[in-house]
Amino acid sequence: MKLNKKVLALIVLGGMVVSSHSMAGTASALDLANTCAGCHGIDGNSKGPAIPSIAEMSAEYFTEAMKGYKSDEPAKNTVMTRIAKGYSDAEIDLMAGYFAKQTMVRQKQDFDATQAKAGAKLHKKYCEKCHEDGGRSAEDDSGILAGQWAPYLHYTMADYIAGDRQMPKKMKKKVKKALKADPKAMEKLIHYYGSQK
Ligand code: HEC
Ligand code: HEC
Repeated sequence: MKLNKKVLALIVLGGMVVSSHSMAGTASALDLANTCAGCHGIDGNSKGPAIPSIAEMSAEYFTEAMKGYKSDEPAKNTVMTRIAKGYSDAEIDLMAGYFAKQTMVRQKQDFDATQAKAGAKLHKKYCEKCHEDGGRSAEDDSGILAGQWAPYLHYTMADYIAGDRQMPKKMKKKVKKALKADPKAMEKLIHYYGSQK
């Protein structure tokens, strides 16, 4: 009895795993987005804290990021440098339109209220100019920070500071200033982004 149930469960599970997406002919935006779903979610809201959500991201930021990965710009040898090479510029444009239309779900994350409050102040002073509306704006070319996964933001800031991902020149200046004023500035900022609903 017990064994049969187990076998049955395995068969059902097996059936669920056999999903397929046909890439024959011209792929639609949804077909293309499907190839990203395992990591970023079909609507661009990632389920894993080390993987950024890409929903609502401006088409401009998206295409720049993808073309950067294709030419190995942001960092050496990340998963995306390999993945991006599999897509033509036209396919990247199609996906950019698709993801820009999705809604970013701000992740529910633990945060420290005192740190978040300090982070809000730091943001205003050093980051708001480009990351508008408290880092919520999707309209600029700077990416969405509010509600993004905190572990992803931690890795990303560490990469930027270590020089493994190139910082925009003007951002670099501000990050330097913020760190000089408060060596723990980045942690506080990330608590602030994580606190936003
Ligand atoms: C195996 C998991 C995986 C798959 C599949 C994947 N990604 Fe990613 N993606 C990542 C990770 C992890 C990052 C964070 C940067 C890094 O480490 O490369 C990322 C970063 C990105 C970024 C930059 C996000 C930012 O905020 O700067 C974009 C855009 C992106 N991916 C688009 C896509 C698209 C489009 C696809 C499908 C064609 C895709 N990804 C498939 C894991 C994945
Ligand atoms: C002069 C404009 C400017 C300022 C000021 C600025 N940034 Fe940025 N930021 C950008 C741009 C442009 C990008 C996207 C470029 C890239 O892909 O590296 C970016 C990207 C980022 C990213 C990566 C987003 C992602 O999805 O991967 C993080 C994190 C970030 N900024 C944090 C900050 C913080 C924290 C501050 C304040 C201390 C700040 N920035 C100040 C322009 C700015």
